[in-house]
Amino acid sequence: MPREIRFNAFEMNCVVHQSPGLWRHPRDRSRDYRKLQSWVALARTLERGLFDGIFLADVLGVYDVFGGSAQSALAHATQVPVNDPLLLVPAMAAATEHLGFGVTVTLSYEPPLPFARRMSTLDHLTDGRIGWNVVTGYLDSAARGMGEVGQRRHDDRYAAAEDYMAVVYKLWEGSWADDAVVADTATGVFTNPDRVRRVSHEGTHYRLDAVHLSEPSPQRTPVLYQAGTSPAGRAFAGRHAECVFMSGPSVQVITPRGASIRAAARDAGRDPTAILIFALMTIIVAPSDAEAKALLDDYRGYADHEGALTLMSGWTGVDFSTLDLDSIVQHVENDAGRSALDNITRADPSRTWTVRDVAEHVAIGGIGPLIVGSPATVADELERWMETTDLNGFNLAFAVRPETFDAVVDLLVPELQRRGRYKTAYAPGTLRNKLFGHDRLDETHPAASVRWL
Ligand SMILES: Cc1cc2nc3c(=O)[nH]c(=O)nc-3n(C[C@H](O)[C@H](O)[C@H](O)COP(=O)(O)O)c2cc1C
Repeated sequence: MPREIRFNAFEMNCVVHQSPGLWRHPRDRSRDYRKLQSWVALARTLERGLFDGIFLADVLGVYDVFGGSAQSALAHATQVPVNDPLLLVPAMAAATEHLGFGVTVTLSYEPPLPFARRMSTLDHLTDGRIGWNVVTGYLDSAARGMGEVGQRRHDDRYAAAEDYMAVVYKLWEGSWADDAVVADTATGVFTNPDRVRRVSHEGTHYRLDAVHLSEPSPQRTPVLYQAGTSPAGRAFAGRHAECVFMSGPSVQVITPRGASIRAAARDAGRDPTAILIFALMTIIVAPSDAEAKALLDDYRGYADHEGALTLMSGWTGVDFSTLDLDSIVQHVENDAGRSALDNITRADPSRTWTVRDVAEHVAIGGIGPLIVGSPATVADELERWMETTDLNGFNLAFAVRPETFDAVVDLLVPELQRRGRYKTAYAPGTLRNKLFGHDRLDETHPAASVRWL
């Protein structure tokens, strides 16, 4: 049986997510990011297309690496203005029954207790369809906005994340017993105090002495997503992640990363095949190859190359404004994200990238591959990716909003279903149940060890 192909939509509560300049396209509706109805409509479209989820990215700072200021980011709207992703979820959940919500929240700037309560709240309100993309941030501007001088060192961010996870697991899994809420109208006891316990934590980065404020929610711990593939990132994913998002331009870059994530899960005593791995991709699909190609040519007319380099500078910590457009991008080590620069330097030694190549590539859909063609052509290419990479699916970026997703749902999904490569109905229940067949994290996961049995 060939492996099922899964889709997530890669979105962000802003104008320019991964395709700078495309907001100017006459059919693009990106400015409607401020309108709840645009998110509700998108959620319905994605559910019609049986997407596993909508994955909402987030940053808490501006992309001010390019040119050393926020000027370019503001002018080109590269991930600024950006609104809070979590506030979109209840409206989208009310309009759908099955779609999952993988929301990015950085753990670097918020104490565990209020964050844990917010996720429990959303797990209740979505009937167990909330997921958390665990990030620590990569922008110094975000750290400065929080009153710090700069971000923590790269590997120390992962060490802090390890401690943060230990705290939130105790809150989600260990503070309230399953039978704590009795709601006994005869005795007047709502919660049995003997079945709720304080969490005490004295860790390397966090301390806490508290009772979790929410009663047990359907999944307890939200479905855990992770997206870093540096050595420290892989080790973290191996221990904690249930789904991993990767970005890279080719199968050559993605394949070893997927293998290394599965190896890290094996090292952590978990089932490596149970981790779902999604690669970033942008799909331009139209009824025929010629129409898809024409669509791409049309889109390219709106691509904003400075915006692309502004994004890339933020992701990599390298100021691309100082580099000659025809120079070859070199690897450097710094405290921004590591995989982003690896993608265009050492991850695939057979390919070099000039700054111009980067600007042109990243302007449509970011650093992931761009697949263009008829439903049959695109489906062939996705099958080739699946056969060579050991992936579980794709995290789809958009060029024109919501046109890119409409086309995938209306044209590509039926083709994949005809080939038996895509589900024809959702599984029931919580997001974790749909993805893995159980509501709670399994016994091999570190969260299970703090459970109140
Ligand atoms: C597809 C994808 C989406 C990501 N989304 C976010 C995000 O929304 N916010 C964020 O702060 N980091 C995001 N990241 C960055 C990662 O969390 C991580 O910081 C980055 O990949 C660097 O980690 P590494 O050095 O371990 O590779 C994303 C990464 C990838 C590949």
